[in-house]
Amino acid sequence: MSSFKVRKAVIPVAGLGTRFFPASKAIPKEMIPIVDVPVIQHIVEEAVQSGIQEIILITARNKEAIENHFDLNYELEDALEKKGKKDLAELSRSIGQMCQLVAIRQKTPLGLGHAVLCAAPWIKDEPFAVLLGDDLVDAEVPCTQQLIDVFEREQASVVGVMKVPKDQVSKYGIVSGKMITTKLMEVSHLVEKPSPAEAPSQLAIPGRYILSPSIFGFLRKTVIGQGGEIQLTDALSSFAQKEKLLAYQFDGDRYDTGDRLGLIDATLAFALKRADLAEGVRELLKKYGEPFQ
Ligand code: UTP
Repeated sequence: MSSFKVRKAVIPVAGLGTRFFPASKAIPKEMIPIVDVPVIQHIVEEAVQSGIQEIILITARNKEAIENHFDLNYELEDALEKKGKKDLAELSRSIGQMCQLVAIRQKTPLGLGHAVLCAAPWIKDEPFAVLLGDDLVDAEVPCTQQLIDVFEREQASVVGVMKVPKDQVSKYGIVSGKMITTKLMEVSHLVEKPSPAEAPSQLAIPGRYILSPSIFGFLRKTVIGQGGEIQLTDALSSFAQKEKLLAYQFDGDRYDTGDRLGLIDATLAFALKRADLAEGVRELLKKYGEPFQ
């Protein structure tokens, strides 16, 4: 590894989004808004606020809207200016200038591990962050920044984890190992989507990682696993046998916006934090909270 500075982030968005059919048929599910900001914008903002300078988007057919969202749109910005909507024109420009973005096609959705491997030629010999394109973390210190702090202090790869109820473990990659502090574990192995009986712990990886580029060697050797996909979790388990891998219980509220209820949860939580919407949303909640007659 040539440096210990994390400058690049891989954001995989090439999945089919089947849980959001038919909405995801022609638009990427990552463009579905939390109120009025697309999910992917929240994730890119987290990366940028954590000091990431270059985003490598692992994308697919029908996902061009994501690249367009982070580009300038002169025609639109000009039309907004002419209508006297200077603030909206400025907002559009600021999103277009938010980050340096490279898009790479994952031609077949062979799984998250394969998606990350597609970034290897652009990452080269540097450590990098991975943020899943449908996982939101609302935190005072951005989740990726929290993990970068651990990475820089411990000089070791680190996955973000959160404690989940036992009946939820089969939705995640689960870590096991030795607790070093109350929030930090040295990982010995990982299992993708175990049954509650097989789960080695209740510490789940929702979708934030800081990885050494040596993970690519392990990904190349990883065979097809759970769900017929090349799993990042399986490559990380082999990695943990050879190199130090940490798991850090990050601070913040996490939302799975790739799940329908998760999206509704995130929408309500973010809307209730907005001064222009909170009161109206509370009224709505009262209406739906009343028992049906
Ligand atoms: P998910 O399994 O949550 O997303 O993958 P999905 O496949 O799009 O959704 P469903 O289950 O069909 O509804 C987690 C992340 O990994 C990306 C997805 O885009 C998502 O951001 N991913 C997944 C890829 O980029 N490539 C893949 O082959 C699989």
